[in-house]
Amino acid sequence: MPFKDFLLNDGRKIPAIGFGSWKIPKDVATGQVGQAIDLGFDHLDTAQVYRNEEEVGQAIKESGLARKDLWITTKWSGVDDKDPLTSVKESLEKLGIDYIDLYLIHHPRLTKGDIPGTWKKMEELHKAGYVKSIGVSNFSKEDLQELLASATIKPVVNQILLHPYVIKSTTPLLKYLKEQHIVPEGYSTLIPLTSKPGGPVDKPVNKIAKRLNVKPEQVLLAWSHAKEAVIVTTSSRKERLEGYLDVGDITLTKEDVKAIDDAGAKGELWDERKQKWSVAAKYLAAAGLIGYLVYSKL
Ligand SMILES: NC(=O)c1ccc[n+]([C@@H]2O[C@H](COP(=O)([O-])OP(=O)(O)OC[C@H]3O[C@@H](n4cnc5c(N)ncnc54)[C@H](OP(=O)(O)O)[C@@H]3O)[C@@H](O)[C@H]2O)c1
Repeated sequence: MPFKDFLLNDGRKIPAIGFGSWKIPKDVATGQVGQAIDLGFDHLDTAQVYRNEEEVGQAIKESGLARKDLWITTKWSGVDDKDPLTSVKESLEKLGIDYIDLYLIHHPRLTKGDIPGTWKKMEELHKAGYVKSIGVSNFSKEDLQELLASATIKPVVNQILLHPYVIKSTTPLLKYLKEQHIVPEGYSTLIPLTSKPGGPVDKPVNKIAKRLNVKPEQVLLAWSHAKEAVIVTTSSRKERLEGYLDVGDITLTKEDVKAIDDAGAKGELWDERKQKWSVAAKYLAAAGLIGYLVYSKL
């Protein structure tokens, strides 16, 4: 069964999987985004700070698709201290489109402590018709509570880091988002493969992949889908992108999801301990150095 769109709290529908253009170099961005569109991706995720909106725009143009057939998300990243209004106008120009489907505050720190004031600016962009939906990214529960206290328009999504090694600490946020009818969008879900291979998550993921005769990356994306998150991912490779789109056909059991969650929590605990040990080791080294200096002066 192909992916079903997610219904947002403003009544609009967002495709369940998006192709992201973070880190794609300018000289290959149009080709890679074009490849994704040709294979069937109808949801693109970019940002002011990715510095490839022009190239994404070129791929949109070359696709020949009607504007309504593509969902385009970009983010206000506070580049060069530009405000949301200046930034959105520049993004529209670079992307070569006359409205943005979804505009996000890229990170709460960009608000410089003024979440309500910044959100008001986002609401104005929506009212002026530059953007159809507005949302946030990397917001904590506390950030959202502050925003919601004065918002007249609710954010439709919160785009967050979502992979098994952070699921233990992220589950309360996911629960809060669900209560607030704010859809989570999950990015960097493939971290167990891209930057933490060999960790405890590999075992259940490989076992499930073998049983279902699919690739490990598909299992991880299916896990994100099972968490009721919009998937935001990327690949330069055609066969991987085809596999990502097939994730709509993969249903994990509750036991599969639990096995991945449990292994992720184990890894998260291990990471926390490693961090504590490295801080403790630094203190010990500093204490040792001070001791040596004092001793050597005696
Ligand atoms: N809002 C935010 O702050 C934020 C932050 C980060 C990302 N994002 C968004 O999320 C998108 C995806 O982020 P991401 O790149 O971190 O996501 P990801 O989905 O975790 O990773 C994608 C990468 O995984 C690689 N990959 C796939 N299968 C693999 C395998 N079996 N073994 C090793 N590598 C494999 C792909 O490489 P190949 O090209 O070789 O296939 C690709 O580069 C970004 O483009 C951006 O739009 C948003």
